[in-house]
Amino acid sequence: MADATARGRFITLEGGEGAGKSTQARHLAAWLKARGVDCLLTREPGGSPGAEAIRTLLVTGEPGRWDAVTEAMLMNAARRDHLIRTIRPALAKGQWVICDRFIDSTLAYQGYAGGVPLATLEALIEAAVEDTRPDLTLVLDLAPETGLARTLRGSDGTEARFERKGLAFHAAVRDGFLRIATANLDRCVTVDAGTLPEGLIARAVAAAVSERLGVSA
Ligand SMILES: Nc1ncnc2c1ncn2[C@@H]1O[C@H](COP(=O)(O)OP(=O)(O)OP(=O)(O)O)[C@@H](O)[C@H]1O
Ligand SMILES: [Mg+2]
Repeated sequence: MADATARGRFITLEGGEGAGKSTQARHLAAWLKARGVDCLLTREPGGSPGAEAIRTLLVTGEPGRWDAVTEAMLMNAARRDHLIRTIRPALAKGQWVICDRFIDSTLAYQGYAGGVPLATLEALIEAAVEDTRPDLTLVLDLAPETGLARTLRGSDGTEARFERKGLAFHAAVRDGFLRIATANLDRCVTVDAGTLPEGLIARAVAAAVSERLGVSA
């Protein structure tokens, strides 16, 4: 049982389109709840009323609707509202927070794939989140072709602005996530999300949480 007087742990799931982030976030929340851990499942962009309104601006419309710097500013505006209204209050209550996308998506999408200098993004991220950083990040890795095929199958296309940015963009996103994971081995665990079935990925994610954050399997 998590100690309600202690700050909760903060876990993020990252990866390209259709990597299985939302699926695995749900599995992980259920796995933690079954072990007596009170947790909150949330997502970016979004997770608070203001941030959900900004999400609509970001995920709908033409792929070129925003340039990458504007996009990064909108992402971090949404992030700060989400952090202040949802994430920090939950962590302070002792809840564990599972967030579907967070700061690494900004670095991968607007940085590695979008061309915004990483130092610019780091400054925006620092302003948005200060010292509230993930304790553990699961990077779900798969070929962009596989992920895009999965999302196109399951979506009605209303939130498809990023999906429509093209394969070269998504290949750069994947490469970006792998670089981030390699540079942050203390925080990140990379999981093969392209070939394994959902249940085995859930076991790998649970094993990483168990090992890194000390939850008994
Ligand atoms: N391991 C898997 N193998 C095959 N299909 C999967 C696997 N995991 C999830 N899926 C399916 O792939 C689709 C995308 O999964 P999901 O929505 O969880 O991905 P996501 O990373 O959240 O995508 P997005 O970036 O669009 O939010 C869903 O239809 C889901 O059922
Ligand atoms: Mg999702």
